Amino acid sequence: MCGIVAYIGRRPAVPILIGGLKRLEYRGYDSAGVAVAVTDGLLGVRRCRGRLANLEALLVKAPLAGNVGIGHTRWATHGRPSDENAHPHRVGGVCVVHNGIIENHIGLRARLRGTGREFTSETDTEIVAHLVDEALKQGATSLLEASRKALRQVEGAYAIVLISQDHPGELVAAKNASPMVLGIGEGETFIASDAPALLEHTRNVVFLDEGDIVHLTHAGYTITDLEGAKRERPSRILDWSAEQAEKGGFPHFMLKEIFEQPTAVTNTLRGRLLVPESDVTLDGQEIDTRSLSRLVIVACGTSYHAGLVGKFMIESAARLPVEVDLASEFRYRDPVVGPHDLVVAISQSGETADTLAALKEAKSRGARTLAISNVLDSAIPRAADFTLYTHAGIEIGVASTKCFTAQLAALMLLAIHLGRRTGTLSPGNAQELISQLLLIPQKMENTLKELGDLKELAERYKDVPGFLFMGRGTNYPIALEGALKLKEISYIHAEGYAAGEMKHGPIALIDDGIPVVVIAPKGHGYEKVLSNMSEVRAREGQVIAVATHGDKIISEQCQSVLWVPDAPSLLQPLLTVLPLQLLSYAVSLARGNDVDQPRNLAKSVTVE
Ligand code: F6R
Repeated sequence: MCGIVAYIGRRPAVPILIGGLKRLEYRGYDSAGVAVAVTDGLLGVRRCRGRLANLEALLVKAPLAGNVGIGHTRWATHGRPSDENAHPHRVGGVCVVHNGIIENHIGLRARLRGTGREFTSETDTEIVAHLVDEALKQGATSLLEASRKALRQVEGAYAIVLISQDHPGELVAAKNASPMVLGIGEGETFIASDAPALLEHTRNVVFLDEGDIVHLTHAGYTITDLEGAKRERPSRILDWSAEQAEKGGFPHFMLKEIFEQPTAVTNTLRGRLLVPESDVTLDGQEIDTRSLSRLVIVACGTSYHAGLVGKFMIESAARLPVEVDLASEFRYRDPVVGPHDLVVAISQSGETADTLAALKEAKSRGARTLAISNVLDSAIPRAADFTLYTHAGIEIGVASTKCFTAQLAALMLLAIHLGRRTGTLSPGNAQELISQLLLIPQKMENTLKELGDLKELAERYKDVPGFLFMGRGTNYPIALEGALKLKEISYIHAEGYAAGEMKHGPIALIDDGIPVVVIAPKGHGYEKVLSNMSEVRAREGQVIAVATHGDKIISEQCQSVLWVPDAPSLLQPLLTVLPLQLLSYAVSLARGNDVDQPRNLAKSVTVE
């Protein structure tokens, strides 16, 4: 996710902007820039690709003096990392920095082009600068009025700050579904996407809410909505340490990212669900299914588990056969793959060496390729014919959580897209899947709230020699993922099994010392999992069930139940994985481990 810092006061703006952006460096970025209302009444902009040090060097050569300014570190989402795509974006006398995604950017760009406007970047952000400039040219009398008019046309998620050459003593900031915080100092005011950027200067802050527009001048600030109605927002004194602030008040990045999943999934779906048409757009890319006879998914680790769920989604919606392969195996086994195959490479980082090599191998044999990744312009999307970004925001915890559920959402989008093109998914069934998908973020939010911290459960099982996880159908990959997550951060041995396989061997492991996590939501295969659960109970196994709210049969038969809401089988993994992530986190914590940096693991595996 990108970082924003803005300042209005009496001090030189540039050191404050750069200092604040440095505090957000941990979030990752690929370019940076600032715009300052320079003292002679003009706007000065400096921006470039790469590290903040490059921007600082630029500012040494060409300084900007002024005490009103905006700054940004960009993590590319629309348009590759480059000088031209770096923020701030300037149109006429208006400059803007933006975090988030403008959903209706295609339509807005076409309309603006129709009025003779030209674009100098590939970003959706530049559209906002055009809209504000247009509103000013059409007679808006203030930057605030022009910003309101512009933002009424924008759909999507944004945290935006605007500055204008013709209104040098003002800033306008707006928030919708992207975080933004206001910092109140003595005769100075700050805006930032995240609190760490402000803490050095003030702890008196206002967390802005959806639809807030803030007008900042040297005299202070006012908050209104898009229609101009006044909004009161209480300020609070933040007692977070700098480290706590980086984690948004959570003790670890992993926990923060677990709780960010409803937003991550919303951002993956954003702008891609065509509700009236009962269809999905893959950002305008069309996958021709006429000559397509099979899909092959290649990935590693958690992304591989997402691929295993994707197989169910795609086979069910598009009735095309799907194979899922570990990338490290696929690349070395002379794979049978060719022009009638679509090879889907899933990689959070977009840099995993085995997945990249598998994709190149498939390409060299004539297959079409599609990358699902969270990092724009990383190696795997660059090498693929089609790309589908998950837009989950940067993931810092080494154990992947929000990128996994965002990958599941992306795979469901792909399944609906393909199903509508093969004709196997009727408009009615597509509509039903889309409506159910739209309910998922709220269900995730409720589930996370209700589950609590699972501390008691973790204390009970933190010293066991091993865990077993079992599930069926779409929840078999979740059993694998639950076991992987636990292994990674608790260092307890864990295995995931297809529940039906238990009696073919693993059942020999069961006694009263090994907890068995049974993923048993209502739906497809439920009765079968129940009988597998009875087999475990009959051998004194300790059962922790993941079950659908209100399922009395389950609660009477096991030691502990982790409840999830009802959902269609294809979408259940987006919910059933949540208690398993929280359980791993709680057990790791109870054992005193380093949750965010588990031993022997790296976030991006760029070697074989
Ligand atoms: C598990 C985890 C790893 C990655 C794997 C693939 O929590 O993070 O198993 O999923 O290394 O990484 P990406 O998705 O970046 O290709």
